[in-house]
Amino acid sequence: MPPQLCIAMAPGDGIGPEIMDATLEVFKAAGVLERVEFIPVSMGRGEFEKGNTRGIAPEAIRRVEECGLLFKGPMETPKGGGGKSINVTARKLWNAYANLRHFRTLPGVQTVYTKAGIPVNFYIVRENIEDTYGGIEQRLSADVIQNKRLVSAPASDEVHRFAFSTATRLGLGKVHCGHKANIMKMTDGLFLERFRAVAAGFPGIETGDVIIDALCMNLVMRPQQYDLVVLPNLQGDIVSDLAAGLVGGLGFAPSANIGKHISIFEAVHGTAPDIAGKGVANPTALVLSGLMMLRHIGLLRAAAVIENALLAALEAGVRTGDFGNAAEPALGTRDFARAVVERFGSAPMTVKPVPVPEQDGLAFERPARPAAQPLIRSIGEVASRVAGCDLYLDTTMPPAELAKALEALAAGMPLRLTVISNRGTQVWPTGSVFTELVDCHCARFEAAEGGVASGGGGAGVTQQQVLALAGAVASKFTVSAYELLRTFGGVRGYSLAQGQ
Ligand code: NAI
Repeated sequence: MPPQLCIAMAPGDGIGPEIMDATLEVFKAAGVLERVEFIPVSMGRGEFEKGNTRGIAPEAIRRVEECGLLFKGPMETPKGGGGKSINVTARKLWNAYANLRHFRTLPGVQTVYTKAGIPVNFYIVRENIEDTYGGIEQRLSADVIQNKRLVSAPASDEVHRFAFSTATRLGLGKVHCGHKANIMKMTDGLFLERFRAVAAGFPGIETGDVIIDALCMNLVMRPQQYDLVVLPNLQGDIVSDLAAGLVGGLGFAPSANIGKHISIFEAVHGTAPDIAGKGVANPTALVLSGLMMLRHIGLLRAAAVIENALLAALEAGVRTGDFGNAAEPALGTRDFARAVVERFGSAPMTVKPVPVPEQDGLAFERPARPAAQPLIRSIGEVASRVAGCDLYLDTTMPPAELAKALEALAAGMPLRLTVISNRGTQVWPTGSVFTELVDCHCARFEAAEGGVASGGGGAGVTQQQVLALAGAVASKFTVSAYELLRTFGGVRGYSLAQGQ
């Protein structure tokens, strides 16, 4: 019978091709290649070297979209400069909005926790599209660069719904939301607020929220208190690596990037340039990522057979050089894969084996390609009113002098200067002489009559009036960024400067 399903497969850079070969050898032995055709596609360093700044060949894009599934090895990201991370590009291009990672103690993989008898077994769901990963950055002055961190309600809803439905599917009792809403009250505040809204639809699951710094400490001190933690993008990225450290390192951390149409499966680790080409890399994380993919498409039996064999091999002390008992010989990548295949039909004894179903049934239907870019909305229409603007000015003028100049420029206009801040700290009309200034100030103008910040519910101003003010200020200063300040449903839609 010819394969019924295609999966685009990009081996990746560095150790990628070595661990991908080993993984596919394991899959082949389990009969996966009879059901699924892996179609090699070109992504990564080779594409960048050809001058393709996206790092993904056009044919690869077509294939991935046709298959709806991508199995990928790690890919090198050019540091600094213009080249964007291909991994981030792939997740965003195909809207793989939730990143699921599983961290658990594996037999044969000694860690401080296994030695202490503390079991580790939890999941992280990371928002995958937004946050600082938007990579929206602008230089505002010689010394200052900004990153625009966008967080949206619908994307937060999608990732929280995925977290709760995953917890339901896996029979997990608790879902926590990690955040920094005490500081980023609006962005992380929204992420947390949507978590609570989505949680209301899953009354059978215990929920909680935890500030990211406390989460890091708790994970190190008592990792067993968490089942699944859902996090914004950057925080999720950092906590994932911390979690990988709890279970023996990056070699054991698999991940799935789940989207409505296209899902991407890859290990958490990178290209490991220090050991690339030596045939010594640990393929476990990629094999485990492959198992998440096999389960995603319904090949539950093949996944169970491979997982039990892998666990049995690890339990028997089979290891690559990056882990295990150094007194035992380490195997190369290929031999490690063979040792797993040799154990097909075996099950681990020190941990619960995975139940092996009677048979496999492919259960993957790629949703139809959208006819146009879907618009996702959560909150819908809210009455908004213009309240003023923030103008970022490339200037070294001292705040009091700057205020005088700006007040002169705004004379006769329906907006008044209320605050000048520097990197978010108020420096005018009051401030501390200890606040160091950099060469970019933010001047906040608010509606002169009954502006929101002054506590009133006055008439507000129009956007045209705000832009006219910006134009007047631009006649004397470089306005390097502009933000419209609005109220939504009567609630201030902007943060106050520190000290305001
Ligand atoms: P890395 O994960 O490649 O390596 C960190 C350390 O872990 C190294 O000592 C490496 O030898 C070891 N290591 C990683 N995977 C291993 C494995 N399977 N077996 C044995 N040892 C392993 O992180 P690094 O060095 O920060 O990044 C290298 C490159 O990989 C960069 O270009 C980075 O952008 C890229 N990267 C790609 C990712 C992806 O494709 N999803 C994820 C993370 C990094």
